[in-house]
Parts: sequence; C-alpha cells; structure tokens
Amino acid sequence: MRYLTIALAKGRLAEKTMELFSEIGINCEEMKDKKTRKLLFVNEELGLKFFLAKAGDVPTYVEYGAADIGVVGKDTILEEGRKILEVVDLKLGNCRMCVCGPASAKELLKHHEMIRVASKYPHIAKDYFYNKKHQTVEIIKLNGSVELAPIVGLSEVIVDIVETGSTLRENGLEVLEEVCPLSARMVVNNVSMKMENERIMDIIQKLKAVI
Ligand code: PRP
Repeated sequence: MRYLTIALAKGRLAEKTMELFSEIGINCEEMKDKKTRKLLFVNEELGLKFFLAKAGDVPTYVEYGAADIGVVGKDTILEEGRKILEVVDLKLGNCRMCVCGPASAKELLKHHEMIRVASKYPHIAKDYFYNKKHQTVEIIKLNGSVELAPIVGLSEVIVDIVETGSTLRENGLEVLEEVCPLSARMVVNNVSMKMENERIMDIIQKLKAVI
C-alpha cells in the first residue's frame, strides 16, 4: 500500500480538520506535539502522511500530486484557480466573501463607477467585478488588514472575508454586496482520484457521514 499524502492549511483550520478526521478514525499522534518543528508527519498504520503548508500553497501541492488530498478554504481554491477536484464541503470555517466599504460607497457600486477595490484576493475581486457585474474597476492587491484601505483612502471598497462582521463594525464599514459563501473544502489530485479511487472514496464517504 502506498502512502496517501494529505496537505493541510496551517493554523486553526488544520486543528479543526484533524478533529473531524479523528471522528472517522484518521489521526496522527506526531502532529499533536505543538512544539515540534517537523514538517511532515506519518501514520504508518494507516499509510498516511500529513503536512502543513501556507493555505495558498495547498492547491499547488495537490495539483502537482505532491499531496493526494488537501484541505483548504474555498477562498483559496477560487483565488489560486488550480486544476484540482473539489470533493467535499467540510462545513468548517463558514464565512462569506463580500464587497465591503463605507455606506457611502453603495451609490458608487450602483452606478458602476470606476472605483478602486483593495483585496487579498485580486482574482476573486476581478472575476466578480468584470465577469459577474460587468463593471470596470482598478484592483489593488494587499496582504492583510484590508479594512484599512477605505479608511485611509487607498480604495473605495474592499473584497474580503467576513465572519462575524466585527472587524467591519469596529472600523465603520459594512457589507455592501455578497460575492459567495465560503468554507473549508477537501480537494483531490486528478490522477490520485483515479489511481487511489477506493481509498479516497472511502475517506470521502466517511467524512460525508459525520458532517
Ligand atoms: C480576516 C478577514 C477580516 C476578518 C473578518 O482577517 O480578512 O479582516 O478576518 O472576521 P470578522 O468578520 O469576524 O471580523 P484575518 O484575521 O485572517 O487577518 P488579515 O486581516 O491580516 O487578513
């Protein structure tokens, strides 16, 4: 039996994913050690390997087959646009991708004004404004704390993740339009899905039964 390799997006999502996996008998003792600097973890018994990567890199590892399976947010899947199979909605980390800004920006959106849109997700923002709304905008890529952009005058609106909405509220911003709902998804490499179909389908079916 060859090892199946699973790539997880570092952080809270990886912890929640391992909790979900443990419900279907998939676990990895090595990974529970919070102090470890190891990058690759093995469960010999189950023939599984796990590694933690930056969320944005998970679809890359899966597309190239360095990981057979990945768990990552829908936001990252959409942004990276990799050729991978999205197989299960794990219903973890539920939130929304939204266009946000001050209430005054509503009019600019309504009248399809040429505005500046700041986002950590330039592809998602571009797809939304160009392909769905047919509105020409200037997209500005940022790397975090995107809510700052409309406050300091870098952009009129942002495209960002909204979970509780408290970051928006505390900064005088609001949801102006919803782009799409988000949650963590299990993704699979195209070739692995064919070569290891039985093992991967078994994991998918067990996960679906506990979600
Ligand atoms: C995310 C997101 C928002 C915030 C939304 O940022 O980009 O800023 O969480 O959550 P809320 O609706 O519950 O307030 P994150 O904390 O990941 O960091 P970042 O701003 O540096 O991207």
